[in-house]
Amino acid sequence: MKIALLGFGTVGGGVWELLQGNPDWDIAWVLTRRTRPELGSRAVFTMEPILADPEVELVVEVLGGIRPAFDYVAAALQAGKHVVTANKALMAAHYDELTALARQNGVALRCTGAVGGGIPFLTALERVRRLDRVRSVSGIVNGTTNYILDRMTREGSGFDAVLADAQALGYAEADPSADLDGLDVRRKLVLMANVAFGVSLREEEIPMAGIRGVTAEDIAAFRQAGLVCRMLATASREEGGVSAVAEPALVPDSAPEAAVPLNCNRITVTGERLGEQAFFGQGAGRYPTAMNVLQDCMDIASGCRSFYTERALPCPVDNDTLRRPYYVRTGDEKPFAGLIAGRLGPGFVTRPMAVPELHRRIPGCRFTAAVDNAFFAQHFA
Ligand SMILES: NC(=O)c1ccc[n+]([C@@H]2O[C@H](COP(=O)([O-])OP(=O)(O)OC[C@H]3O[C@@H](n4cnc5c(N)ncnc54)[C@H](OP(=O)(O)O)[C@@H]3O)[C@@H](O)[C@H]2O)c1
Repeated sequence: MKIALLGFGTVGGGVWELLQGNPDWDIAWVLTRRTRPELGSRAVFTMEPILADPEVELVVEVLGGIRPAFDYVAAALQAGKHVVTANKALMAAHYDELTALARQNGVALRCTGAVGGGIPFLTALERVRRLDRVRSVSGIVNGTTNYILDRMTREGSGFDAVLADAQALGYAEADPSADLDGLDVRRKLVLMANVAFGVSLREEEIPMAGIRGVTAEDIAAFRQAGLVCRMLATASREEGGVSAVAEPALVPDSAPEAAVPLNCNRITVTGERLGEQAFFGQGAGRYPTAMNVLQDCMDIASGCRSFYTERALPCPVDNDTLRRPYYVRTGDEKPFAGLIAGRLGPGFVTRPMAVPELHRRIPGCRFTAAVDNAFFAQHFA
């Protein structure tokens, strides 16, 4: 199959490398913005040659960012070309438009690498949905925050030192905001929830909190209590719609999430009849992600012509029925008057409260994390 590659960075370079010497695939064009001698005459600086080439059946987008990626992907779909992307920012922001364009043009749109990097979670979810009703999707979907939290937990190190190591190792970007503040997790959660429930959630309606404020003192107190902090994406089917939240959570140290090391991911789907099915592996990285991108290409070459779900019903995020106790560390406890169930290290644990109630108060807090319900019942109820 003749394809075009948009972007020649970490993932794009991985796709290029993995296809070298493979007679079934011809990377006819590579969209780049700098001269790359290794690409020879395949390098192009605009989309025109790609769109004008009728032999290019599939476009792989691994540029990142929303613009111009959206314009390029939309143009490719309109030109009747299949698209594979690993770009969660793009897919979360333009889910409706892009899935509709793919449907209208009878072409495939796949983005397995956008959630879980090398873990084939979205394709697994598609298979689960063929036979079962999904109750919830959840898990650790960001390697950078897991690396930081895991090392802080195991070594007692401070946040800044571990973040610096993560940056030196290439696990965290120079500007780590999207990872630390929960944006990356929320984008993946939009995709997981949309595919799981056949809905279309609005990214900005999903409450999120990050790990920027967590300290070694917090982590030490959690450890002493038998808890481990993890950054979690959680979405479930509720009566009024779909609940979804991206925030740090304290899980028992015996929980499978607590054992997820360094920059690994662990994502779970729970089906009504299936029960729990969990996926563990590399949530990012050149080859794992490029492999998921290529698996999508191979599915298309084998006849896949769809997105993971045909449905994208607009659906409000409804977290009102979801009640959780929270760990809170704040300089001003007044907004929590009457809500405090007990102390935990330098902070306190609230009585179970609706997720929006906590998230309204987050701007005044230094660090917050959902607390495991069973732990709360045992120690604070
Ligand atoms: N890296 C991972 O492990 C991973 C995992 C899962 C998903 N993803 C997703 O995969 C996508 C690519 O990530 P990446 O890590 O490969 O990023 P990257 O290393 O920064 O590569 C992006 C490449 O695209 C090029 N580019 C950006 N804008 C362009 C434009 N307008 N025209 C031409 N070229 C342009 C960049 O060129 P310059 O070199 O000139 O900047 C760079 O070569 C992102 O959406 C990311 O979220 C990545």
